[in-house]
Amino acid sequence: MSDKSKTEKSELSRRDFIRSAAVTGAGVLLAQNATGQDTGTKKVDDLNVGIIGTGSQGRVLIAACLKIPGIRYKAVCDIWKYSQKYASNILKKFGQPVNVYQDYQDMLAKEKDLDAILIATPDWVHAEHTIACLKAGKHVYCEKEMSNDLGKAKQMVLTARETGKLLQIGHQRRSNPRYWHAKRLIEKDKILGRVTQAYGQWNRSVAQSQELGWPKKYTMDEATLKKYGYDSMKQFRNWRWFKKYSGGAIADLGSHQIDIFNWFLATEPKTVLASGGLDYYKNREWYDTIMAIYQYAPPAGTVRAFYQVLNTTSYGGYYEAFMGDEGSLVISEDTSVGYFFREVQAKRREWEDDADKVSKMGKNAITLKIGETRKKSGKKDEKALQMEEDAKKPIHQPHLENFFAAVRDPKNVKLNCPGEIGYETAVTVLRVNTAVAEQKALDFKPDDFKV
Ligand SMILES: NC(=O)c1ccc[n+]([C@@H]2O[C@H](COP(=O)([O-])OP(=O)(O)OC[C@H]3O[C@@H](n4cnc5c(N)ncnc54)[C@H](O)[C@@H]3O)[C@@H](O)[C@H]2O)c1
Repeated sequence: MSDKSKTEKSELSRRDFIRSAAVTGAGVLLAQNATGQDTGTKKVDDLNVGIIGTGSQGRVLIAACLKIPGIRYKAVCDIWKYSQKYASNILKKFGQPVNVYQDYQDMLAKEKDLDAILIATPDWVHAEHTIACLKAGKHVYCEKEMSNDLGKAKQMVLTARETGKLLQIGHQRRSNPRYWHAKRLIEKDKILGRVTQAYGQWNRSVAQSQELGWPKKYTMDEATLKKYGYDSMKQFRNWRWFKKYSGGAIADLGSHQIDIFNWFLATEPKTVLASGGLDYYKNREWYDTIMAIYQYAPPAGTVRAFYQVLNTTSYGGYYEAFMGDEGSLVISEDTSVGYFFREVQAKRREWEDDADKVSKMGKNAITLKIGETRKKSGKKDEKALQMEEDAKKPIHQPHLENFFAAVRDPKNVKLNCPGEIGYETAVTVLRVNTAVAEQKALDFKPDDFKV
């Protein structure tokens, strides 16, 4: 794609962003301004928020926050003018003018009344940013992968403990009502019987794995790039490809889904073996193909879990599957993917009659819809109805809501993904790269996951 068409695409997405936010509720903020309800005075429940890193994910988080009542952006920090402008313009349009910073230290020195800071910078600077914010007395929501360096990830957890501030890691499936529903069906209703295997994949085509460009008028000069640790604009934009900045595709994509293995199986793995390499591309460092097999030992018996991330084919897209002796469940953050296959000998659930049926891979499947499970009376469960509503929100919103609810009421609201869990996931995920490099199976010890 040419730089011009990329810029046009950005402009387009900016318009789409504003339109969709207005349609889905962020417009309420504007209406409040217009009617004078939001006077700029901080209400008791309002939270002042800053963000470091307003690239593509930073903007997704901003869009989700605009739908959460009482969240007021005060400051935006990014080393790149393009990202600074993008985010500050959007926030201004939604009645939240912000101070803009290039350097986070400057932001922390000047913005004394921030309650919380979101961090959506590349993985290699998460620890530096998180630790500084926690030490400055701010609660932190930090994107996954927590860090590409486990020593630094551990320091993040320790600093959160020392400062008594909250640290939520952005594994947002942990707050997704569809995943909660699936987990309950597996754990409580035992719809899979004994879970025996799990599978996950995130496959992206060559077209989805191309080099990212930038509008030429926003090229950063060499001195600024160097100051912030980048050798070139190509490295800066495509940081995911390089070992210094990222844990590669297994961390970028796999971490979301391997986190679900740990969460749903309610334990960490015992071993991992993996194969992978840079089989196709010449312009990057990290592997484009990885296939990993974990062995878990939950109380009910061994579970083997296969995970693959491929950057040369979009075949099958992205999803997770859990298989047991009575059925299989397939789920994805893509809301169009969610099914349950029951083995013929397994017990039939009363809610099956009302659930939608689909044919998948030549078999009859039941679509996994929240709210489809019912009480014996035939009435829908109140909690299920609420979850059904929450499942319509943008995928990051419930995780952010959980974070802000905990900031407001830390005694009564638990984080769904505190630093400790982010660390367990990072240990589970990053060991795959070692297994690929060493071409052998590696053991995990229980202490490996502890901080
Ligand atoms: N939870 C999810 O679903 C999800 C999805 C995508 C990305 N992410 C995570 O979000 C983070 C950002 O990813 P992205 O896709 O937005 O990347 P990106 O390259 O689009 O954005 C990164 C931004 O950080 C800025 N930046 C870089 N170094 C900085 C520094 N030292 N100080 C301040 N700003 C700096 C860049 O200028 C850029 O604007 C990553 O950790 C990624 O893993 C999470």
